[in-house]
Amino acid sequence: MPSRVIAVTNFKGGIGKTTTTVNVGSGFALKGARVLLVDVDPQGSLAISLGISQPRRTLYDVLVDGRSVEQCLISARPGLDLLAADDTLLVAQQELARRHDWARAIELALRPVVRSYDFVFLDCSASLTVLNASALSCASDIIVPTALEHLALQGLEQLCRNITRIKGTIGSIRMIIPTMVDTRQRQANELLESLKQRFGSLVTEPVRVNVRLSEAPAYGKTIYEYDPRSRGAIEYAALVERLSDLFGWTPPAVPPVQQPASPPATQQEAPAAASLDQNCPHCGGPVERMTLAGYKVVFCVKCKWKTSQLITPLSRMP
Ligand SMILES: Nc1ncnc2c1ncn2[C@@H]1O[C@H](COP(=O)(O)OP(=O)(O)O)[C@@H](O)[C@H]1O
Ligand SMILES: [Mg+2]
Repeated sequence: MPSRVIAVTNFKGGIGKTTTTVNVGSGFALKGARVLLVDVDPQGSLAISLGISQPRRTLYDVLVDGRSVEQCLISARPGLDLLAADDTLLVAQQELARRHDWARAIELALRPVVRSYDFVFLDCSASLTVLNASALSCASDIIVPTALEHLALQGLEQLCRNITRIKGTIGSIRMIIPTMVDTRQRQANELLESLKQRFGSLVTEPVRVNVRLSEAPAYGKTIYEYDPRSRGAIEYAALVERLSDLFGWTPPAVPPVQQPASPPATQQEAPAAASLDQNCPHCGGPVERMTLAGYKVVFCVKCKWKTSQLITPLSRMP
């Protein structure tokens, strides 16, 4: 499968772009994909969300200082690399605006490494800067997280107009994800219906308000590390599943099985991993069972046989 370069974008801030980038990107990495996350926002939230303070090299070094992109990558997790950003990107933006090839700047910057990854996610900022326009023109696919608020939905129309201006069509939008949804609110349900009427099957199942999702970045953890059993982990894992199907991507034969970091001490639930007194159906070896990235996973310690099942909200009920 050719690499997919996926822009996560919306002109509104604080609606879950970075949360989606981190948890969809790391969800793919946990399934065995090779993933690069690129921070195209001078706020630099991606590095912080992954627990990396003050990255030594950033996208600025590639765009302005002409450093090779390989030198600026940070290995954030197994299978998950990061090209970070910080406020120097504001300067890069001004420099870029002076370049005649600004629209291709991100594509040219990433070109040497794109083929090393299955998925490259571009975490965009909340306005139409030259950087965002450059990210959109480089993207093969676009994901749009959106709040279910009246103004946010109006903003979507503006976003679609700009995507059409840059790419000629909105055909590369693959998913519109309603985020931070409180389904108990009547207005949210009404707006979800009108979103579906306008965008049809592009609209995914909502990611509901989940306090675990808002806490995880403070610990520098993905939701699968912070609380793999939370609703946020399950809903983001389902989105990874949906994207895998959409792109026809299947995990490698024996994906790396990683033990998520322990949940915080305050957590009430049982530990994520527990041994099973049950043997592997293939080699008879011992199996272990764990909750990983929204999946129940059983794997054989000896032959690495593995089976996994997406956790549904029902399967979590006692
Ligand atoms: N589903 C959710 N439930 C609760 N809080 C969320 C959820 N998604 C994101 N957040 C929190 O909302 C804030 C804004 O999210 P963020 O992903 O940084 O937005 P953006 O990148 O669009 O500015 C962050 O504090 C984040 O932790
Ligand atoms: Mg952000």
